[in-house]
Amino acid sequence: MPVVAVVNRKGGSGKSTLATHLAAWMAHQGCRVMLGDVDRQQSTRTWLKRRVASVPSILHWTLDQKNILKPPAGVTHVVLDTPGGLQGFDLSRLVMQADAIVIPVCNSLFDRDSAAACHDELMAHPRVASGRCQLGVVGMRIDARTRGAEVLQQWAHSRAMPFWGVLREAQIYVRTVENGLTLFDLPAAAHAADLQQWQVVLAPLASILRVGASGLRVPCDEGATIEPPVMTEPAQPDTPSQAPAPILPARAAALMPAQGTLVHGDRFAGSRASG
Ligand SMILES: Nc1ncnc2c1ncn2[C@@H]1O[C@H](COP(=O)(O)OP(=O)(O)O)[C@@H](O)[C@H]1O
Ligand SMILES: [Mg+2]
Repeated sequence: MPVVAVVNRKGGSGKSTLATHLAAWMAHQGCRVMLGDVDRQQSTRTWLKRRVASVPSILHWTLDQKNILKPPAGVTHVVLDTPGGLQGFDLSRLVMQADAIVIPVCNSLFDRDSAAACHDELMAHPRVASGRCQLGVVGMRIDARTRGAEVLQQWAHSRAMPFWGVLREAQIYVRTVENGLTLFDLPAAAHAADLQQWQVVLAPLASILRVGASGLRVPCDEGATIEPPVMTEPAQPDTPSQAPAPILPARAAALMPAQGTLVHGDRFAGSRASG
């Protein structure tokens, strides 16, 4: 099953905001999506608890009979939120799980430097260097009155990092997340400009993750519908052989390691064969 992780060593770079939006977008496309944290803090669990029943549901880790955290049965897509400071062995384990890694970067020297260090480490992984796990940079909290988007794009280009677009600084992101929602859960016409930014960001991901037979509707702009490729491997019914493999060793929150991440073991079982 396709897995996307949101990674940046720097706290506050927008990882959880991006991860929640990616999961909600997939849910709106009809995917049975799980949003999971790979750290003890489990911050997106709080967000999920606030999510109301009237919007497309997003699943969280489930505990099996052996108290192992794993994706619930029937999940077709996984979004992983990660903690700041992720590197070394923990980052390596995550890379082994992911088909795509999104790196949210705000436009400051410190943010770019931190993201560059993260990028260097990621590129040292054969799975990333070979393109089996694809990277993309998303500019976060960009003020349209500044040259932030341009500076970030040039920076990404100078490092040969795919640049997947920018999202503007807007209080609507803060307010929606507070309520267990995302922009995708709101009336589209009221947020057309932001959804247009998302359209750019999501186009490469839709292809990598095989999401969205129905496309993303952006009402203000005719022809602005993402047309991702038809899913070549449609979601399979949940059978024993296709059931998601346990990937986390956590037995319960109380037994989780105090530091570090939890991704563990083989790649998620699912329809995608590449590893
Ligand atoms: N586009 C945005 N506009 C305004 N605030 C944002 C935007 N994206 C994220 N934020 C805010 O920035 C802060 C950090 O974002 P968060 O997603 O929690 O980062 P991280 O998970 O990397 O620590 C949060 O308060 C969040 O609401
Ligand atoms: Mg976070």
